[in-house]
Amino acid sequence: MDGRDLVRSVKAVGSGGAAQGLRRVRAAWRRRRADAAGLPRRGAERARVPGTVQEALPGPGGGVVRFARSELRITVTVNGAVFWGWDGAGPEPSYALAGSGPEPDPRAVLEPDKDGGWRVVAKRVTVVVSRHGAVEVRTPGGVTLRRDLPPRWWEPADGGGARWMQRSEVAPDARFFGLGGRATGPRLADGTYRLWNTDPGRPFAPGDDPLYLTMPVQMVVADASTHLVFHDTSWDGTVTLREGEEGAGSGHDRAGSCELRMDGGPLRCWVMVGTPARVLRVWASLTGSPAVPPAWALGHHHARWGFGSAQEVRRIVAGYRERGLPLDAVHLDIDHYEGHRVFTVDRDRFPELPVLAEELRRDGIRLVSIVDPAVKVEPGNAVYDSGCAEDAFVRDASGRVVEGVVWPGEAVYPDFTHARVRQWWGGHYAERLAQGFAGFWHDMNEPVSFTAFGENTLPRSALHALEGRGGDHREAHNVYALCMAQAAYEGLRALAPRERPFLFSRSGWAGMQRYGGTWSGDVATGWSGLRASLSLVMGLGLCGVPYSGPDVGGFDGSPSPELYLRWFQLASYLPLFRTHASLRAGRREPWEFGDDVLEHARVALTQRRRLLPYFVTLAHLARRTGAPYVRPLWWGTPEDRALRDCGDAFLLGDGLLVAPVLDPGVDRRTVRLPRGRWYDTVTEKAYQGPGRVVVDAPLSRIPVLARAGAVLPVRGEGGGLELEAWAPAPGRSGGGLVVRDAGDGWGEPEVERYVSRWKGRRVVVRRDGDEGRSEPVHPVRVRGLGSG
Ligand code: GLC
Repeated sequence: MDGRDLVRSVKAVGSGGAAQGLRRVRAAWRRRRADAAGLPRRGAERARVPGTVQEALPGPGGGVVRFARSELRITVTVNGAVFWGWDGAGPEPSYALAGSGPEPDPRAVLEPDKDGGWRVVAKRVTVVVSRHGAVEVRTPGGVTLRRDLPPRWWEPADGGGARWMQRSEVAPDARFFGLGGRATGPRLADGTYRLWNTDPGRPFAPGDDPLYLTMPVQMVVADASTHLVFHDTSWDGTVTLREGEEGAGSGHDRAGSCELRMDGGPLRCWVMVGTPARVLRVWASLTGSPAVPPAWALGHHHARWGFGSAQEVRRIVAGYRERGLPLDAVHLDIDHYEGHRVFTVDRDRFPELPVLAEELRRDGIRLVSIVDPAVKVEPGNAVYDSGCAEDAFVRDASGRVVEGVVWPGEAVYPDFTHARVRQWWGGHYAERLAQGFAGFWHDMNEPVSFTAFGENTLPRSALHALEGRGGDHREAHNVYALCMAQAAYEGLRALAPRERPFLFSRSGWAGMQRYGGTWSGDVATGWSGLRASLSLVMGLGLCGVPYSGPDVGGFDGSPSPELYLRWFQLASYLPLFRTHASLRAGRREPWEFGDDVLEHARVALTQRRRLLPYFVTLAHLARRTGAPYVRPLWWGTPEDRALRDCGDAFLLGDGLLVAPVLDPGVDRRTVRLPRGRWYDTVTEKAYQGPGRVVVDAPLSRIPVLARAGAVLPVRGEGGGLELEAWAPAPGRSGGGLVVRDAGDGWGEPEVERYVSRWKGRRVVVRRDGDEGRSEPVHPVRVRGLGSG
């Protein structure tokens, strides 16, 4: 322990109470001791590069290129994704892939290239391998999208896994997005980003990195094409990004660069090329379709750490009801547990929870339960005892069960990388279902162990099953929450086979969308926190996780009425729309901020409910196509460079553009529009893109624009489905999809496609394929006619 550690641990003792502080000090020492004994020492290392090419062996979809000191396997798959792996790495085993990965493309062949190199030519992409092992991805037209220089490994002289480094170059105009949930973005500025899921231990703001959910997934947008690259390695690492620069006049271009350094694991990656929509479609086909939340989960959720009792829950629900404010879900945090023990209920303060759940359900409100992975060490506690009997908990290298410290005190951690443990854990959701919970909120699953110094997670030497392969926490850490989500999802499917599970998780990894969504974690209350919460939702969407949203108002402190309202307004257009705050934070109910805020919040809530059919449509489209609900402005026009820099507005599906207010004292704001005609949805005034326009943003609403021609499904006054059609630009046509949910189960939804076009001076909307019919089945309201 150095001086700083000592100061920190003394502070921890001071802030968390003596007992808790001592626990944290002990946990930190335990962690340090376990690693000192259990981790291989890094001694002398030997550096290695591939060397020169020796031979090439064609195989399905590509083949193997042998170098003096390594070999490279390349496979182009039928959906146009490219896989390559060094040193014999194949696509499997992988926690990210949903299944065994796509089939090789039989038409892709390995053939000699110039200068002793090799290439694989496929329909959508060409991969060129130089004689020293540089790998280039080119468009069919021959433009280079990405050039990976020969990798470099550092191998321990006395055996064991290697560290490695991969440097890549991208076009000078390329911009980077993704890497999971990052507070500063969505365009990732030059800098180093760590790949290690981390609870920062306090509310985060822009600049805090890494956070709870990291992923080695980058979306790179350039004039020549968009591509997504995924390095399928769960180990700790860093990514250093540097945007390029185009030489003005006679100056030279400087390529953009990306340097990935990993502490271990296979050096393998997947690359997908095409439009943003295509890239995410292929990504979803590789890693799994996003789970579709039940419709109620697309409404408004109210959470709080510290409701404290069933009476308080009833009081809040009544507050919504009496004021006529829509509410769809209430979340119970750890304070409803008995002594913070997972899968228990404090029966004094929450007597007869199933009765409360039923009462709420009759009002159309669902209960959602927090679920933390750590189990209190306590013989006699049923979860602990059954976990011990199952041998479910993570052990250290000496065979002892690893103990950390979380809310209930000393706790142990299920090893979710073991199928048997996942099954055991999944079975516990039966208790939650019996209590009446309809959805699940996974938390503290980076996983967290409070420590007085050092990292607040398990020792790196802690052992994990890793599906029978065996390994340690260095490899399992980043996939811990993903495997916990799998356990819950599969458990729920078995326990309640007729309902789509609803779960969202603070931590996760590539592929987590198969099981559910996420939220932004403990975002700091402040205008910069508001901005960060939008960055996270957009970045995660581009990594294939479309369902997320922030804690409205921020996690800590007390937002000003204006900040609360702007946060509320933004979140009402995000997939997860939830107010939540810490035990010690000020109130977050919409009526706690004065009459004006209440009235404006009512507008946002009502508008959200009106747009519910649109959100349901977007949820199903995400499942079918991988496209996130919330998309960056460049989604349809990635070649529009000015849009790549815009992080302060977004597209909601194809039809809407939302321009939240992210600064105080603002009542007008600039919006950079993609090409085409856009209508202010309140004034119906038309604007022409591309370009910048200034729109009104009074306290009562944030600007929302509709794309000319869009046909949006909305909920009419009487509750039925209506179509809101925005007049196409003169001489143009438009349209939209409507996907109608068949309840909260697995029934196939109905997909309707509508087209809108001018007929004389009228706009008509028809169901595609219904030309003979005069009227669509739903009432249509045409808007934007008067704007000229
Ligand atoms: C963590 C979560 C937060 C939750 C709290 C108590 O800080 O991020 O949402 O309220 O734990 O469970």
